[in-house]
Amino acid sequence: VIFDSSKEASLLVAHEIANLIQRKEELNEPCVLGLATGSSPIKVYEELVRMHKEEGLSFKNVITFNLDEYYPMDKDNIQSYYYFMHEHLFNHVDIPAENINIPDGKVSAEELRQYCIDYDMKINSYGGLDFQLLGIGRTGHIGFNEPGSHVNSATRSITLDHITRVDAAPAFLGVDNVPRKAITMGIGTVRNAKRIVLLAWGISKADIIKETIEGEISSQVPATYLQEHPNTTFVLDTEASSEL
Ligand code: GLP
Repeated sequence: VIFDSSKEASLLVAHEIANLIQRKEELNEPCVLGLATGSSPIKVYEELVRMHKEEGLSFKNVITFNLDEYYPMDKDNIQSYYYFMHEHLFNHVDIPAENINIPDGKVSAEELRQYCIDYDMKINSYGGLDFQLLGIGRTGHIGFNEPGSHVNSATRSITLDHITRVDAAPAFLGVDNVPRKAITMGIGTVRNAKRIVLLAWGISKADIIKETIEGEISSQVPATYLQEHPNTTFVLDTEASSEL
């Protein structure tokens, strides 16, 4: 779906999420959301916060699982995805702290493998994700599933691609300060979501969006795996769709 502006597109996505939250509440079931960081979802979170404050949208029934976190990374660090999510969403809505799941960038190297297995098990214990919000990196990554990621990959630690680290460099005041690793939800975990919405704005995403939507499905562009998902929508602005 192509919109003139990312603002207009973000409102529509926020309203879909809000409707899902309300529907699940009526059914007395938890609403399990997979959430993303980066600049792309910021306006979606802004609108959800507005709906909470002005329209009484409640997050009491919402369980969230974030896609990824740098590794190693302290929660208090302003570059952490933990910090990002609290700043843009969690600090402004009524979600209970125990309902928030974000990969822990401080888990020890010895515990990391089991930690990732447990993260997936926790998602599965809720019957999987009802909705997964995604951005896309210029390497074609979703979460931090870099080129080479297997279609059935689970939550795990991953080495970041150089392009990804260059793109993250401004936030870290230089590429050398960007962590070399991350923890990411796997492609398999993401693809189990009942509904997926991928956001991409701006001309810098045009090439990778073309490859993702029109290219051959390949581990070299992990986002192409979404072509086979039965309920995925790519929400784009005119610039991001300009190569299609
Ligand atoms: C990071 C995140 C991704 C995100 C990507 C794009 O690499 N791990 O989940 O999709 O950045 O970020 P942006 O939305 O700022 O373009």
